[in-house]
Amino acid sequence: MTKRYVVLISGRGSNMEAILAVDLPGRCAAVISNRPHAAGLAFAAGRGVPTTVVDHKQHADRAAFDAALAAEIDRYEPDLVILAGFMRVLGDDFVRRYEGRMLNIHPSLLPSFPGLKTHEAALAAGVRVHGATVHFVTPSLDAGPIVVQAAVPVLAGDTPETLAARVLEQEHVIYPQAVCWFLEGRLRLTDGRVRLDGEKAAAGVLRVPTE
Ligand code: GAR
Repeated sequence: MTKRYVVLISGRGSNMEAILAVDLPGRCAAVISNRPHAAGLAFAAGRGVPTTVVDHKQHADRAAFDAALAAEIDRYEPDLVILAGFMRVLGDDFVRRYEGRMLNIHPSLLPSFPGLKTHEAALAAGVRVHGATVHFVTPSLDAGPIVVQAAVPVLAGDTPETLAARVLEQEHVIYPQAVCWFLEGRLRLTDGRVRLDGEKAAAGVLRVPTE
């Protein structure tokens, strides 16, 4: 049976676009946003993907929002839930409901620089290497088991914007890759650890662009 995935976005949706652009062994069942005006919704709709909004502002508290979001996701019975620039913190019950089948992308080499403003933080820390991480989502924020990372150099004269652009380019490579591994049945979470089958896949968990 064809596997299904659902993508959650809050804004631009360029990672969602990158995922929709590749030929995956699965179907995007829906794109869901917590913001009614998220730019990514129009792109998804233009690709014929069903889109819905679960507006966090319409819910009294996080528990009510999480419950509404879970109900919407479950309508599509997805094998995988993909957080792609989804900027709401999700409660423990929600996260546990999708344990082992929810991925996130974060714009830093975790565990460095969790949270927001990662590019500013990397520049302030003076690191020479920065990057992006795809990880399984667990209740601790930005701390779930790591699937794949991409490293990018920090260059003299970088601003948060130039660094963000260099990182984003790599996000668009590693996220579709991780999603593909999951849908192929090669990637899973077992006893809290990432299992990845296949020599080629295992060799690809750290991407260091040479250009
Ligand atoms: C991406 O850089 C993603 O890594 C980041 O937000 C951006 C969304 O861009 N996610 C987080 O910071 C999650 N904490 P996009 O909407 O164009 O994919």
